[in-house]
Amino acid sequence: MNRTRLCDLLGIQFPIIQGGMVWIANVELAAAVSNAGGLGLISHTAGLDKSSDQIASLKQQIKKARSLTSKPFGINLPLQMPGIEDLIDAVISEKVGIVVTAAGNPATFTAQLKEAGIKVLHVVASVKHAQSAEKKGVDAVIAEGYEAGGHNGLDELTTFVLVPQVADAVKVPVVAAGGIADARGVVAALALGADGVQMGTRFVATTECIAHQNFKEAIVKASDTDTVITGRRIGPTRILKNPVAEKLLEMESAGASAEEMVAFIGLESRSRLGQVEGDLINGQGHCGAIAGMIKEIQSVSDVMQGIIQNYDAVVRSLK
Ligand SMILES: Cc1cc2nc3c(=O)[nH]c(=O)nc-3n(C[C@H](O)[C@H](O)[C@H](O)COP(=O)(O)O)c2cc1C
Repeated sequence: MNRTRLCDLLGIQFPIIQGGMVWIANVELAAAVSNAGGLGLISHTAGLDKSSDQIASLKQQIKKARSLTSKPFGINLPLQMPGIEDLIDAVISEKVGIVVTAAGNPATFTAQLKEAGIKVLHVVASVKHAQSAEKKGVDAVIAEGYEAGGHNGLDELTTFVLVPQVADAVKVPVVAAGGIADARGVVAALALGADGVQMGTRFVATTECIAHQNFKEAIVKASDTDTVITGRRIGPTRILKNPVAEKLLEMESAGASAEEMVAFIGLESRSRLGQVEGDLINGQGHCGAIAGMIKEIQSVSDVMQGIIQNYDAVVRSLK
């Protein structure tokens, strides 16, 4: 597989990042990805319950990551999270090497993180935001198309149109995210001008991920049309189709206010219910449209090896 400048930037062997995933990007998952030569990201919410202290939990996860891998790993911090200032302080005091920020303005914390010697990657969903993140000093941008699981950009650009335009517009490395789960996707992303990929949904359906078995099995059973974007008024989010998704779509078409919708979803509490507790009737599962291509729960090592081993054959098939 091609070694790219993303590999040099992050000190990794293969240009594959396991994306941050609210509640379920646990340290064992991240360490397994890093040990397989990619970059694992830990979400500070993984393993948290209502009574946990999120700073103590994050510090514990960082310590555990260092016991599970000697390779680089990173922390994902969605910037709109409550207590974000303290989370930023914690990654700095713990001397984390890499932070991936998302869902917010990179102007707020990039300089502080960079001064502490941390590499910063920021998730963007348009050319304008990629250019702005580059100006704010990020080391790389993650261009995420709206095929992706979880929160999405407002303009609903697909990975296929977003990545080449971002690659033409910025000088920093570009990581393609959204709709990638095998070697074909990785080759396509690099052909579009990306320096690497970030995958989320594929890594949920792995043995190392702490997602509930019901959620993993729902991804394996899903077809190409089993996800939907909900919450366009409050922040578009791609989730598995289920009664919660139906209710959200109904609320939207009935003109529910943003407050009513936020009250119904809670601050990610329905995603915790679906993804961690496995209640996919009352909870929701953030999930990418590529779920239809994921046919089994595998170990991280098998997922990574599958991509690495098939990469050259895919490239050869194009000649
Ligand atoms: C269950 C789930 C939760 C996610 N939560 C987050 C998150 O907390 N922060 C973030 O930056 N991205 C989040 N994402 C997006 C992923 O990091 C990644 O960019 C995305 O999954 C890539 O698209 P794919 O699902 O098609 O692989 C989430 C994705 C999934 C599937």
